[in-house]
Amino acid sequence: MTQITLALTKGRILKETLPLLRRADIVPSEDIASSRKLVFSTNQAHVRLLILRGVDVPTYVQFGAADLGVAGKDTLLEEGGDGYYEPIDLGIAKCRLMTAVSADAQPKKGRIIVATKYINIARQHYAQHGRQAEFIKLYGAMELAPILNLADEIVDIVDTGNTLRANGLVTREHIADVSSRVIVNRAAMKTKFAEIDSILSALRSAMEECQ
Ligand code: PRP
Repeated sequence: MTQITLALTKGRILKETLPLLRRADIVPSEDIASSRKLVFSTNQAHVRLLILRGVDVPTYVQFGAADLGVAGKDTLLEEGGDGYYEPIDLGIAKCRLMTAVSADAQPKKGRIIVATKYINIARQHYAQHGRQAEFIKLYGAMELAPILNLADEIVDIVDTGNTLRANGLVTREHIADVSSRVIVNRAAMKTKFAEIDSILSALRSAMEECQ
């Protein structure tokens, strides 16, 4: 059978994707969370799993190094790649992309400074709202930026809101709802149709069972 490579990412997406994969009868041959390996075989001899940084999943799928991947909609919006289809919204790892400010921030006229790891999403959002902004790229702990006066606002994902609250920030504008999506390399969708279609069908059934 043709080899199928599925790209995943550690963290909350993996935690919520593994039970779905198990229901779709794709079970890693060892515990991913406690291993430093990056490639895992599964109970299905022709299916292997890659563990990547989330931001790299669309790149691997776009260039065909992986046939399929599971990535957050936030990553897909930010990377804006093509070369892949997005056939399934898994409805897991749900959160929202929001802007946030210090709870005691005074409204500021004119150009503001926005700190985020989602530079492209943020640029588009502020442009659409006709607000002039400069952007500072950060890789994490965005919530610190307004507290230390590095930025006026941040753009980040919000789930429970606990991280914002714990750091004295409040949400302001909703940018997009986020959940995990299955993406498929366009060429592989044709050349490996039977194998990929069977995985997509199994995932859809697994999702229905969960509802
Ligand atoms: C995300 C995000 C916030 C937090 C929001 O970080 O950057 O810090 O989750 O979740 P909450 O609303 O439930 O508090 P994550 O834990 O994914 O780590 P990251 O900073 O590496 O993205």
